[in-house]
Amino acid sequence: MFTRDVKSILGELTASRTERKIFMVLDDHTLQYCWPVIRGFREVPEDHLYVFQPGESRKNLNNVAEIWERFGALGIDRRSLVINLGGGIVSDLGGFAASTLKRGIPFVHVPTTLLAMVDAAIGGKTGINFRGLKNEVGVIRLPERVVIDPVFLKTLPANELLSGYAEILKAALIANAGLWKRIAPNSLPAPEDPEWEPLIRESVRIKHLIVKTDPDETGLRKALNFGHTVGHALESELIKSGQPIPHGFAIAFGMVIEARLSVMTSGLPARQAEDIEMVVRRIFGPMPELFNHPERLIPWMRFDKKNQGDRIHFAFLPRIGAVEVHHSLKEAEILKGFQQKIS
Ligand SMILES: NC(=O)c1ccc[n+]([C@@H]2O[C@H](COP(=O)([O-])OP(=O)(O)OC[C@H]3O[C@@H](n4cnc5c(N)ncnc54)[C@H](O)[C@@H]3O)[C@@H](O)[C@H]2O)c1
Ligand SMILES: [Zn+2]
Repeated sequence: MFTRDVKSILGELTASRTERKIFMVLDDHTLQYCWPVIRGFREVPEDHLYVFQPGESRKNLNNVAEIWERFGALGIDRRSLVINLGGGIVSDLGGFAASTLKRGIPFVHVPTTLLAMVDAAIGGKTGINFRGLKNEVGVIRLPERVVIDPVFLKTLPANELLSGYAEILKAALIANAGLWKRIAPNSLPAPEDPEWEPLIRESVRIKHLIVKTDPDETGLRKALNFGHTVGHALESELIKSGQPIPHGFAIAFGMVIEARLSVMTSGLPARQAEDIEMVVRRIFGPMPELFNHPERLIPWMRFDKKNQGDRIHFAFLPRIGAVEVHHSLKEAEILKGFQQKIS
């Protein structure tokens, strides 16, 4: 749900069942910036707060075990509630730990990054990285509630705001041409701009609709991967070479290449692909140098869990605002997307 008063909502949510024990998962930054916003919604003992260091590498089994141990020792049970206050790393880690402890403790997500508000906290996927593989272990289990308040955007670093914005652009591109038309000419709203409310609401609506139709990702849910086949490859290769970029930046650049491939395979009008490229360049900057060496990205795409055989899977746009899943291309065809100049 969307609110402008997250503290009262959490108070109401927990007031009717005062016997319910509350536990929280946060990282150091959300403890510093977001906890003060909601503190006092209800009495929560300090040792019921599990706080970990921020960063993707902390989304690991060790931290899950720490949560199980700490909360278990404090008498958590299935009538308790875990509140995950943070970005996608907190919701993935806290959601997974809660889902697996005692066969499932109910949890609520309070997303504090734009990416978590429009993507990570929506749809019920939770999980951790394992043996170097991202999101390798996890479950799909819906939170009791997702409480979204844009107040948290005020303290979010600019790059994190941009990163989430890429997922809003993606939502518009796959499902709402009107939204794309409205946001494409503009730059990013300022963190306190009321414009975030309709943008977040619409992105969440789109993700909900897609996930509801295909909760187990056998078909339509793959639409959410637009930009992600190339984007994940770029993200992984840049991590490997020690120059990581935020997820959303990689996805935005990935959408440019996948829009070009959509022109070749799905009939996306070339003018629309150009438009996507222009918007991405304006908001996220010049295309990455690595796109001049696409052969370095192909192995990552081949490795993607979503592929079958020697073909690499994509979601493509037949036009802005629509999406087709179940496309697959061979390597040689993909390379053309990097070479092809759009005049
Ligand atoms: N489960 C899903 O469906 C799903 C979907 C997309 C992404 N994800 C996962 O989400 C993760 C990325 O999420 P993210 O981008 O939110 O990263 P994140 O949780 O690491 O947050 C980014 C940074 O912002 C800080 N932060 C968070 N809220 C803040 C605030 N209000 N003010 C100041 N600082 C704040 C965090 O401490 C962190 O340093 C990845 O692990 C990805 O795999 C999951
Ligand atoms: Zn994404």
